[in-house]
Amino acid sequence: MLTKSDNLVWHDSSVKKEDRHRLNGHRSGVIWFTGLSGSGKSTLANAVDRELYKHNIRSYVLDGDNIRHGLNRNLGFSPEDRQENIRRIGEVSKLFVDAGLFVLTAFISPYRNDREMVRRLLNNDEFIEVYVKCSIDECERRDPKGLYEKARKGEIKEFTGISAPYEEPINPEIIIETDKQSLEESVAQVMEYLKGLYDLKMLDK
Ligand code: ADX
Repeated sequence: MLTKSDNLVWHDSSVKKEDRHRLNGHRSGVIWFTGLSGSGKSTLANAVDRELYKHNIRSYVLDGDNIRHGLNRNLGFSPEDRQENIRRIGEVSKLFVDAGLFVLTAFISPYRNDREMVRRLLNNDEFIEVYVKCSIDECERRDPKGLYEKARKGEIKEFTGISAPYEEPINPEIIIETDKQSLEESVAQVMEYLKGLYDLKMLDK
């Protein structure tokens, strides 16, 4: 679907994205963390957020559980609702990028097509897909919210990894194996990538 309304006119803002980049002293982009529930997406996104903050780089975390309390509270977990969830997050992320920030998103985003849809919304180098890889066994062992247990009992339908699919990224920019590496190593790996791609000189200080 394109738009439901006619008679819309796009207004360009007078302060351009590039002006905001100059003001901030860095570029902007989306760091898209994808992976199973309990794989460590939120933990990692928040740790990278803190690291960026420490270096005076503007960033913000959008997190699945939080966004589903507000903006997306009318959505469930059917494939259609998950697609709409990711579409809205993609559009919001694009606004953040336009505002000159790094946005760190932590959504399962289990469908490849949905993630690719977000990639297409953005310019090259503005979408970094981070596969937060962790075996289902380990996610289930961690079970931080007790949801795997409920899903196994059939109390939650369409639960990713149990009764709904997770489509692994084919060619993500970064793979983090949270069942094999420490949080510190994982943060350093993401930071190194960002430093290289975005020429973040302030990280050297
Ligand atoms: S996504 O699939 O649409 O990207 P999202 O990241 O927003 O999912 O939300 C996932 C979170 O919702 C999980 O971490 C978990 O806490 C909760 N949740 C509740 N029901 C389900 C379900 N059926 N499948 C997956 N996660 C669920």
